[in-house]
Formats: sequence, structure tokens, C-alpha cells
Amino acid sequence: MQAARPSVPAAGAALWTTRIDRKSPVPLGRQLAAALRRDIAAGALAAGARLPSTRALATELGLARSTVVGVFEQLTAEGYIAAAQGSGHFVPPREDAPASAAAARPASDTPRLLARQASLLRAHVLPRRGRPRPFELGFAEVDGRFMTTWKRLASRALSGRSRLEWSYGDPQGEPPLRAAIAEYLAAARGVRCRPEQIVLTGGTQQGLSLTARILLDPGSTAWVEDPCYRAAYDIIRTAEAEIVPVPVDADGLDIAGAPAGGTTPRLLYTTPSRQYPLGMAMPLPRRHDLLDWAAHEGVWVVEDDYESEFQRPAAALPALQGLDRAGRVIYLGTFSKLLFPSLRLGYAVLPEDLVAPFTAARHLTDRQSSGLVQAIMTDFILEGHFARHLKRMRAHYAERQEFLRELIGRRLGGLLETRPAESGMYLVAWLPRGWDDRAVATHLAAAGITATPLSGLSLAARRPAALVLGYAGHEEAAMQRAVERMTYVLENETGLVMMTEGELASAGGAAW
Ligand SMILES: Cc1ncc(COP(=O)(O)O)c(C=O)c1O
Repeated sequence: MQAARPSVPAAGAALWTTRIDRKSPVPLGRQLAAALRRDIAAGALAAGARLPSTRALATELGLARSTVVGVFEQLTAEGYIAAAQGSGHFVPPREDAPASAAAARPASDTPRLLARQASLLRAHVLPRRGRPRPFELGFAEVDGRFMTTWKRLASRALSGRSRLEWSYGDPQGEPPLRAAIAEYLAAARGVRCRPEQIVLTGGTQQGLSLTARILLDPGSTAWVEDPCYRAAYDIIRTAEAEIVPVPVDADGLDIAGAPAGGTTPRLLYTTPSRQYPLGMAMPLPRRHDLLDWAAHEGVWVVEDDYESEFQRPAAALPALQGLDRAGRVIYLGTFSKLLFPSLRLGYAVLPEDLVAPFTAARHLTDRQSSGLVQAIMTDFILEGHFARHLKRMRAHYAERQEFLRELIGRRLGGLLETRPAESGMYLVAWLPRGWDDRAVATHLAAAGITATPLSGLSLAARRPAALVLGYAGHEEAAMQRAVERMTYVLENETGLVMMTEGELASAGGAAW
């Protein structure tokens, strides 16, 4: 049987080494054939998997090549494997292959016990993958200038002329990068820390997961801003914490208006620099009140300082971390926004006593951040590219925001209302009273537009209907076309998206 050459890389011969028993009376060739049949039948070698060459397999297993050739001929004749066009063998598709994962479940009645965590994780909805759609969040502008610099620094690191650590590195992150981040944070965000208090992360999401791991027990109480960043909620929920939503007002979270009575929370999650997604900054007096309360009650404050890079330095208020005198703040930052999200590099600034458990949690999770990315990032900051990129992107995003606001005002005035945001990569666009933002988002999705409904980010608080629209990473021409489609949808399908008075009265979040 000859078939097209598959693209899947060859399985390692080491897979079968342990199953060849030289003391067994069964001939070695028969043992190998049986092991291969078992793996193919069980799906360990799936359809399309390539087998190593007969020569490589014979060498690794210490068998005569003619033995392996004989085994491959036998399994080919039986239909377990097929010869690939050109050379080599692979596992062909099975005619009786199960049609779905459900059909692949073993027939046996033996219990398949999973941790309690698994059922919580199963309920987690993974983000959509595919081509970017207008107004989808989670994109950044990656321009030619940035790419050229990044490529040059990457090539220098890989050529050994820079600081690339090829072996395992410090799980906390390489010291020069931590020192550079500490210096940047002190100047730009008023963060006061030693480089020893910084642990590099794979981004804010990992920073939050590790924080939850070291601070939360099942049943611990966690206060979470409402509305809030969905991933933060999901991480805290899957840590089995009791979540108490704390509504924000026009100045963000107000600890004075927080739920009275009840259990003192173990932690509180907040985005004081730019409330997510509403965008307001928490004024200084509130910051001090929050920190006084946290110090008095013994609460950990998780400060998610996303997108703060884009604030005008003059407008930016110091991070909670820099105002905290009681060592209660875990400060999380990320390079996802300023550079690009798939970079997976961020940092946590920790109170001294949390550094060791946090670093251990990081080490046990995935050991460390990529050495290559750290080497490039260190040069990027130390050689001044970071500051220049930041300045360029700040201006660029401000222009994009202005462009989108002007476009919406011109085409959708009366249906969508936006207010200028101090900084950032997205806008909140308010719908007329009585509209159902989830229904609007569904209609827009059918027209190829991703608009995140505010009610989908709300926990319990009732809010007017609004759409969160990302403009970073989306071309102006694409936004223009999208606004035309949006105009059509909103003008023609409005009857479908109104809420009844009854629905309005009961509207709120809590749909998560
Ligand atoms: C509020 C908030 N924090 C943090 C992040 C960034 O997370 P990460 O660094 O894991 O990419 C996002 C991304 O959308 C966000 O919206």
C-alpha cells in the first residue's frame, strides 16, 4: 500500500524500548510487532503518526535491521501501518475510527475519577480562535519598526553575542531584566520595590493563577470588582474561592461602599489605574482608603495594572503598590499590551514574604519564562527601544481611538455613545436604554463583528447596555467597513434587541 507522505513528525523509537524484554522467550520481532499493534489500536499512535525509519528503530532498540523490516512488512500486510510515498511508514486512517470523542470512551464501567477542579475547569469557555475580527479584544499593533528591532535583537541573542542563557535560568527571572523592570516601574508607575521582589510570569493571567495558588484555599472569600476581567473571575472561581462582587461607581472601586458584614476576604482583585472595562481611574483618596482597610483587615490586594503604559505620564496616578506601607499589594503587570499578547511575558511585584512561595509555584508550574524572550526583552529595555516604542504606540492608539470615536459619532450617533478614554486599546460604546447588549452582540457576530457586551463582564451589578470595542491591532479601513455593517445591523434589527420592562428590571450580570 502506497499513500501520500504524512506531515506528522516521526514517533521516537524510545517509545517501545521499555517493552522489549530480552529475557523473554518470545522473539524480539514478535514483541515489537505486538507493542506496535497495541499502540495503534489504543490510539497512542494516532492516524497520520509517522514511524521512525527501520534503520533508526533497529539501532535504538538494538535489533537487527532485517528484524524491524520484517515487522514493518507484517504490519503493512495486516493494515496497521502503510508505506509513505518516498520513504518511511505511517499509521493510516482507520475505517472503524470513532466518529467522536464520546464514541472513543472506553466501554468499561470502571469509574474515571477526576479532581474536583476538573469539573470547574470543564465549565471554562476557551476563547474563540481564528482570524481577527473587527473590535475583538486581545490584539496589539505590531508595526514594521518594532519587528525590525525585535528581529535584530533576537538574532543577536541567538548568535551568542548577547545575554542569552541557554540552560535553565533563575525561576524568578534573569536579574538584569528584573532590575530593568524595577527601574521602569519606579519611574513610570511609582512602584517601590527591589528587583528581588519581582518574579517574571507568563503574563497577568499566570500572575493571577500563581497568586490564587499561594493565597486561596477552597472556600476562601475573594472580593472581585464588578464588572471585571473575565480571566480574573475564572481563575479565582476555579481556585474554589467564594466570590463576592464589589460594584464600582464613577471613580472605580470604593471600599467604603463594599459589602458590610460577612467574612473578611482573603484577597481583593482590582484594576485601579483603569477599571476594566469601564476605564475610570481610582482617585488618590480612595487608594489610601483601600490600603488602610487592607492593612487593618489583613487583606491581600491584587492590583492588575494592565494598559497603564498608555496613560499620559502626567495623568497617571501612582500604583497602589507604591502607596502601600503594609506590604499588602501584589502588583501584576504585562508586556502583552505594549508589545504583543503571544509574547507571554509579564511580572509580579510581591511583598517580601510572598516571593518564596510565589517563585516556588512558578517553578513547579513551568519552571521559568523563556530565556530567549528574556534576553531580547532586556536589550529592548536597556537600549531605549522600550521607551521609544511606548511613546509611538501611545500616540498611535490615541489616534486610533479618535478615529473610531469620530466614525461612530458620524455613522451611529444616537445608537452608540462613546466618551474619550484617557488611554488604552478599547472603548466602551453605550447603547440606548432598554437595549439588550448580549442580543446586539449576537447579531453583530453574525455580521462578522466581535463586540463584547458589558453585561457579559458584569457579575451582579446592573448597568446600562454597552459594547466593549477593541481598536488596537485593527486597521482603520477594516474598522470603517465594520462600522458600516454595524450601522446596518443596529438600524435594521433593533426590534430584536430591545428588552421588555420586566427583563430590564431583572437585568444584571451573574450569568457567568
Ligand atoms: C484587565 C486585564 N488584565 C490583564 C490582561 C493581560 O493578560 P495577559 O498578560 O495574561 O495577556 C488583560 C488582557 O486582556 C486584561 O484585560
